[in-house]
Amino acid sequence: MNGEITFSIIKPDAFGSGNTGPILAMIHEAGFEIVALKLLRMTREQAKSFYAIHKDRPFYNDLVEFMISGPVIVMILRQENAVDKFRKLIGATDPAKAEPGTVRKRFASSVQMNAVHGSDSDENALRESNFFFSEAERCL
Ligand code: CMP
Repeated sequence: MNGEITFSIIKPDAFGSGNTGPILAMIHEAGFEIVALKLLRMTREQAKSFYAIHKDRPFYNDLVEFMISGPVIVMILRQENAVDKFRKLIGATDPAKAEPGTVRKRFASSVQMNAVHGSDSDENALRESNFFFSEAERCL
């Protein structure tokens, strides 16, 4: 599956603002197939572990608090060259720098509350997918 999947989160800001539907529509229109999806509220331990790569960054604690502030949608998406295509669809981490028509340009309000997460490599797509989904929970 390397190269064909990416992992995404619709973050608490976007879920709480009722933007899940429009974001899922953009994902569908961009040609992605949803192969796994859950609505959940992350525990503090889950959020700390998921973002452990950023643990030395000044924004880490605020990021963890934000990610547990409300429900999120976690999902695995499939398409050829999924990681790159999804990162183009969502736009830059900072919405002020995101291209017009991207998910973050439309729905993000700050670099932290940036509506969606998307894996940054095939390796992380697999790691992040495995973090939230068992093999049996994927319709691959
Ligand atoms: P994400 O794609 O989920 O990956 C790491 C997250 O950390 C990122 O989106 C933002 O939500 C957050 N983040 C990254 N850089 C900063 C920053 N400079 N200040 C605050 N939050 C940030």
